[in-house]
Amino acid sequence: MDAIAAEWGGLLIRWLHVIAGIAWIGSSFYFMHLDASIKPIPAIPAGKGGEAWEVHGGGFYQVRKYLIAPDSLPTELMWHKWEAYTTWLSGFSLLVCVYYLGSDLYLIDPEVRELSPLAAAAIGIGALALGWIVYNALVSSRLADNEVMLAAVGFVFVMAMAWFFQKMFTGRGALIHTGALMGTIMSGNVFMNIIPNQKKVIADLIAGKDPNPDFGKQAKTRSRHNNYLTLPVVFLMISGHYPLVFTSPYAWIMVGFVLVAGASVRYFYNERHTGRGDKWWAWAVAALCMAAVAGISLLSNAQGREKLGLKEMQPIQVATGRHVPEAVDDILTSRCAMCHAAAPVWAGIATPPKGVLLDSPLHIARHAEAIRVQAVMTRAMPPSNVTGMTGDERKVLAAWLAKL
Ligand code: HEC
Repeated sequence: MDAIAAEWGGLLIRWLHVIAGIAWIGSSFYFMHLDASIKPIPAIPAGKGGEAWEVHGGGFYQVRKYLIAPDSLPTELMWHKWEAYTTWLSGFSLLVCVYYLGSDLYLIDPEVRELSPLAAAAIGIGALALGWIVYNALVSSRLADNEVMLAAVGFVFVMAMAWFFQKMFTGRGALIHTGALMGTIMSGNVFMNIIPNQKKVIADLIAGKDPNPDFGKQAKTRSRHNNYLTLPVVFLMISGHYPLVFTSPYAWIMVGFVLVAGASVRYFYNERHTGRGDKWWAWAVAALCMAAVAGISLLSNAQGREKLGLKEMQPIQVATGRHVPEAVDDILTSRCAMCHAAAPVWAGIATPPKGVLLDSPLHIARHAEAIRVQAVMTRAMPPSNVTGMTGDERKVLAAWLAKL
């Protein structure tokens, strides 16, 4: 019953998280586009804002931007902050539900590091807090005067954290924490800087004082950082479902390429919307980076196979077709079927994960390709090798699969 409640809880929180994320990223894209489209108008002094016209849903919108503030403040203001807060809160709850409460399967890999569930969660949460503190210090320092230097230092910092997570956690645990670190920086920007500064500006205006223009500038810098991080964050959030990415020992290097690829695509759109032309080369950079990611994944899988000695192995005798030899059936029954059965016996697992049944030769034959990806090409399954599958057993599977 507990496991069923956890599964439903996970589904509902994930649903909320995805929807909040769509709303947040949608408004981030929208405001970057709008900002880039603002043109000067006579009613607003040069360099102090402008106007853009939009058409949507059967009407026309005339949007004016006032840098700092208009002369008089309207009584009603639309804020955009709950998208960010909801995304972070639901994402953090999901991290706790899936990774901290289910750390034996998802977060801790004794072959990487022996950690207690409490220590693993403390390292994860501590690193997220540290990420925000370091980023905030960098952006508030003199380094921020040089955007390129700031981006370079930020990039090295994120990669260092990705490497650190990989030395602590399972592959998917490492990638989700790298994504969560960036997500925390992005929400921190909204919660700790952009919104509080906006409130100070409003308080000054109400008190009849001139607001500090630095507040607006800082908010713009940080919301630009958020914009460049959106695509890489989403990649990291979904990469935990793809063993070809998360089982690679070089996943932290992939993070670097994904950062550049995501930022290039955002750069293309930001330039296009500002009217500075279509910088198609940015797409070429993104494509090259993603090709590098695929290349790294192939290389690490080849290395993994070599380590197991799968190259020199002699295929065992198996019948042609999708016949499942007894040896294979025995291995999957003893290493996989405690979870992948109609009624799993593994504590905390209520239904066969992802609907994959490996409890009979027929089911095994049906999932042959998935078994290849999860247990031969990569060692994603069993999770953290909880059931102690040996290299020799993987070789037997490889030999069977080679015959199919
Ligand atoms: C301790 C429980 C457990 C054991 C043992 C286990 N698995 Fe899994 N398996 C899971 C979980 C949990 C998932 C879902 C992972 C996710 O959410 O991405 C999963 C997912 C899968 C998937 C679907 C992957 C996808 O994303 O579509 C395959 C295929 C799979 N396992 C194969 C195996 C094989 C082969 C073995 C034995 C070598 C094995 N599993 C052993 C828990 C287990």
